[in-house]
Amino acid sequence: MPYLLGLDVGTSGAKAVLIADDGRVLATATEEYPLSTPQPLWSEQDPADWWWGSQTALRRVVSESGVAPNEIVGLGLTGQMHGAVFLDAQDAVIRPALLWNDGRTQAQCDEITQLVGGERLIEIAGNPALTGFQAPKLLWLREHEPERYAQVRRLLLPKDYIRLKLTGEYASDASDAAGTLLLDLKRRDWSETILSALEIPREWLPQVYEGPQVTGQLRADVAEALGLPAGLPVVAGGGDNAAAAIGTGIIREGVISASIGTSGVLFAHSDTIRLDPQGRLHSFCHAAPDAYHLMAVTLSAGGSFQWLRNTLREIAGAEPPLSYDRLVALAEQTPPGAEGLVFLPYLSGERTPHRDPLARGAFIGLTQRHTLGHMVRAVMEGVVFSLRDGQEIMAELGLPLNEVRAIGGGARSAVWRQIQADILGTPIVTMRAEEGPAFGAALLAGVGAQLYPNVQSAVEVAVATADTIEPQREAQRVYDELYALYRQLYGVLKPTFSGLAG
Ligand code: XUL
Repeated sequence: MPYLLGLDVGTSGAKAVLIADDGRVLATATEEYPLSTPQPLWSEQDPADWWWGSQTALRRVVSESGVAPNEIVGLGLTGQMHGAVFLDAQDAVIRPALLWNDGRTQAQCDEITQLVGGERLIEIAGNPALTGFQAPKLLWLREHEPERYAQVRRLLLPKDYIRLKLTGEYASDASDAAGTLLLDLKRRDWSETILSALEIPREWLPQVYEGPQVTGQLRADVAEALGLPAGLPVVAGGGDNAAAAIGTGIIREGVISASIGTSGVLFAHSDTIRLDPQGRLHSFCHAAPDAYHLMAVTLSAGGSFQWLRNTLREIAGAEPPLSYDRLVALAEQTPPGAEGLVFLPYLSGERTPHRDPLARGAFIGLTQRHTLGHMVRAVMEGVVFSLRDGQEIMAELGLPLNEVRAIGGGARSAVWRQIQADILGTPIVTMRAEEGPAFGAALLAGVGAQLYPNVQSAVEVAVATADTIEPQREAQRVYDELYALYRQLYGVLKPTFSGLAG
């Protein structure tokens, strides 16, 4: 039987998954690595750690699965988006990589907006200049570390650096490349207009492929060290959100996914490019050929819940352990709407829809009557209100919405799934197996290895849904009213947020 490998070069670690061609997961292996914050707003990782983590995870997943290596027919790559890996003429890493959640480049974003033009940027690249994206990071290096910049000969995204180590090829895929701000979305290739405005040499960038295309073969020495077949085809893959969407079956309009992990992501497939002229949503290429997607990002989703639990633990001490389940049970005893208590989840600023790094979290409407249960429920609801902001903009852009597939840690809680159904006003569907981006990358590898004729068939064979939760009419009514109030709060508080940051 043929087997497929997917590798996710994530932020907390590298995850490898080995699947059968019917979508059964045989083994997974994760290797964690550190993240460093050398200065406020900075977020960096050493690409050598990714390489070490990736090799370890691949080696382990193969040995733990018991599958004969020569039955493995393809490897798909995915990873954290937007990161900048700077290489010299010998392909040596020049400095630690700047990551997607690095916020040091506001001045360079302003510069890019000025050089290319705000509207033109959205028209070509689908997005405004945002600090996490790759292009402003290269400009930062040019301005702040000119001696290092002088050595740069190649600029790669995280998973594509691992591809170079695995295959010796410089290649990327259209979904991840779209997160650099240098891609022409229509042509699905680098934009000469943006490159020349920013004075970035095109030869520094890798060739752009579609997700399932083969970009190279596993090098013989690497294959031997990992216990994999030499010459194994490695496909382009996708950015982590696009690859996860393949594994969740988000490959036609009308079906979207809502992921509540540390961050929250609402992901919609689009047959054509749809642009938000205000740049509130990300507009990127999909990992499925010729398709596009829209994405709304809530920076602190599960992160808000985690913050609440950690804060309470500090007060209450470690005994008895304050588990997520205990907190959710309290929220369950509280009525929808938390009796007029609202939480704004902007603990790390916000991307969608406000694009405001200075936005802050808040509880609004506290009274003597409110208990811990109300606060927990308000946090869970506030996160979903923020996802609804993204849903409303998608509707404005004419995207149909018939079904939401819930993934991430938030999908594991029945209470949070019901809150999603009631606030988003759509059925919420759960998945049979959820192995995240690595699973989707393995399916793309299956298309590249010709096990499936195309991405649609791969999804039909390997992706299955589990349960559906319907919205409750009365709760929906309460949430519609509360959402109208929630929407007003950011505008009212914006001056206060700026004042507090000052
Ligand atoms: C997407 C984004 C994150 C990263 C990290 O725009 O910044 O989801 O891909 O996983």
